[in-house]
Formats: sequence, structure tokens, C-alpha cells
Amino acid sequence: TRPLRIAPSILSADFARLGAEVQAIAEAGADYIHVDVMDGHFVPNISFGAPVMTAVRGVTDKVFDVHLMIAPADPYLNDFAKGGADIITVHAEAGPHLHRSLQAIRALGKKAGVALNPATPVSAIQHVIEDCDLVLIMSVNPGFGGQSFIAESLNKIAQAKALIGGRDIDLEVDGGVTADNAREIVRAGANVLVAGSAIYAGNDPKTYAGRIKAIRDA
Ligand code: DX5
Ligand code: ZN
Repeated sequence: TRPLRIAPSILSADFARLGAEVQAIAEAGADYIHVDVMDGHFVPNISFGAPVMTAVRGVTDKVFDVHLMIAPADPYLNDFAKGGADIITVHAEAGPHLHRSLQAIRALGKKAGVALNPATPVSAIQHVIEDCDLVLIMSVNPGFGGQSFIAESLNKIAQAKALIGGRDIDLEVDGGVTADNAREIVRAGANVLVAGSAIYAGNDPKTYAGRIKAIRDA
């Protein structure tokens, strides 16, 4: 079984102190730093782009796990790669040429991830699974932090796990993850848990280590 990774989403960080927030979460025990990029087109919200990611990349050497909720994604892959992303995830729904996008990410020397919205079946990635280093199951409709976990996602996680089989691929779950549901999510097959509000709520760095540990221990 693959190692469990906790990936706090900096979408819920205090943007006025973003560098300090990234550093604090790294010191609190985060495994990956989850970076949510939103374009106001693919999803109904705008967050930040490659310049902001690049600016905070230097405060830690943790894995930067960049989740692109943008369409098209291909024109921006180089900016995120050069800016220091380690994993770049594109949505299966973001364009007609998913295979090309995944190949482009690997050609940049980065790990290639593919994300699925709640309504998109696991079968959408059946023919590109060899081109993936990470599969991301969205357990909310992307665009905002603080939403509730969609229960049906558990079946989908299990399906994705079956598709992945013994391959060296992370199975990540994003949206509504808390210490209360982390156990069943991992039992369904996930090994990377994204959590935004469950870790960053209140934006008090003193609370971060305890909240990460609570999810890990669950
Ligand atoms: C949703 C983002 C998530 C979000 C998770 O569009 O992709 O990463 O920040 O936030 P919580 O954990 O609060 O649901
Ligand atoms: Zn995300």
C-alpha cells in the first residue's frame, strides 16, 4: 500500500501572509502543498496563477502539487513547471486532448496528474492511465473551499483504485475532507488527502500541526 500523504490546500490560507502560511503548513507536517489554480472560466471562481505559486515556491522544499482548474491548460504548463511545480494536474474535462496535456507535463520533467469532476466517470481516463502519475477524484464541484464531501465519491475512489491496480500512481481526493471522513476515504483506496478548510480554518498557525495529525491519525 502506498504511503499516506496529507496535502493542505493553500486556497484557504490567509493570502495577505501567503509565504508565511505555506511555511507554517510545511513545518506543521504537510507532505504535499496543494495549489488550487482557478480561472473563472473552467470553474466559477478565480484564485491565483503561476506568478503567485512561483513567489512562494522558495519557502519550503515540500512537493508542490498544483491543481489546474483552468481551460485551456496547455498554454500555462510551462509557466508552472518553470516556477517549480512538482506535480501538475489537469482536468479531464478541460480540453479535448487530455493525452497531449499529460505528455506535455511529462516532457517538462514533471509528474502528470488528471482530475475528474464529480459527474465524470472513471472510464474517462481508462485509456490514459499509463500516462498518469496521479489521479485526483474531486469529491466536491471544484471552485470553492469549504463544501461538503459528496458521498458517492467513495464508490468512485474504489473504481479508480481498481483501474490503477499495482501501478505507481497516487490516488488523491479533494473536497470536503475532514478528520471525520478521512478513514473511509483511505479505506476506499485513496492515499493523498487534500484538505483546505479543515486545516486552515481560522488561519492560526498554532492549530495546523494538530489538524494535520488528526487527519493522519484518523
Ligand atoms: C476545490 C479545490 C479544493 C479545495 C478544498 O475547488 O480544488 O482543493 O480548496 O477545500 P476544502 O478542503 O475546504 O473542501
Ligand atoms: Zn484542489
